[in-house]
Amino acid sequence: MMNEMIRKIAFHYDNLVLEDNDPFRDPPEMKAYMDEWDGPEFIAMLGLTGREKVLEIGCGTGRLAGSIMNSCKEYVGLDVSSVSIERAKVNLAGVPGKAARSFLCGAFPYYPVKRKFDVIFSALTFLHIEDKAAAMACIASLLLPGGRVILSLDKTREEDIVYGDRIVPVFRDTPVRIMKACAGTPLKFAKRIEKEKATLMMLTL
Ligand SMILES: C[S@@+](CC[C@H](N)C(=O)[O-])C[C@H]1O[C@@H](n2cnc3c(N)ncnc32)[C@H](O)[C@@H]1O
Repeated sequence: MMNEMIRKIAFHYDNLVLEDNDPFRDPPEMKAYMDEWDGPEFIAMLGLTGREKVLEIGCGTGRLAGSIMNSCKEYVGLDVSSVSIERAKVNLAGVPGKAARSFLCGAFPYYPVKRKFDVIFSALTFLHIEDKAAAMACIASLLLPGGRVILSLDKTREEDIVYGDRIVPVFRDTPVRIMKACAGTPLKFAKRIEKEKATLMMLTL
């Protein structure tokens, strides 16, 4: 499903990469700034032991995936921006690690992911997903028994992103909204860490 709102989002992130804005290739000070939304606490919450099948929703150009290529068995990156996906493939091809890598281009939760995962994570992406209940129901359906989902929810973004002449839709994703969206799914709250710019949340099956 590619409606007008999703098209705008894909267009924006396609163009960011084409404009040479690739967080995977950021200098160290910019990487440290981006860590304020996730960083080591977020990676630790993934709880990876090397055996997991992992799905990232909104993988972008592979900024976070780059640090887990040796800590999971399999990594699948999903993103609605085809240009980001192509860049992620190139970026992650240069990262050593035993994880098998594959990529899907489509809009979550509409793209039909036909696999199940031990760990699903997403950073700085849920703000673009309008139907949080459909997203959480889809996540629950994609998790293997004992699986977990870890989200970084942006605290700073309340309104649509205005970037030059591009307006990118934002649907605020507070922890309360996420918990309400989980009603009717088997997902249970497990852990929450407050950072200045983001709330990190873990839910388990
Ligand atoms: C702010 S970027 C974050 C990228 C990456 N998670 C990171 O932290 O570096 C948001 C990403 O989510 C993707 N995205 C937005 N809405 C999406 C959706 N419904 N399904 C899949 N990807 C989506 C965008 O294309 C973009 O790559």
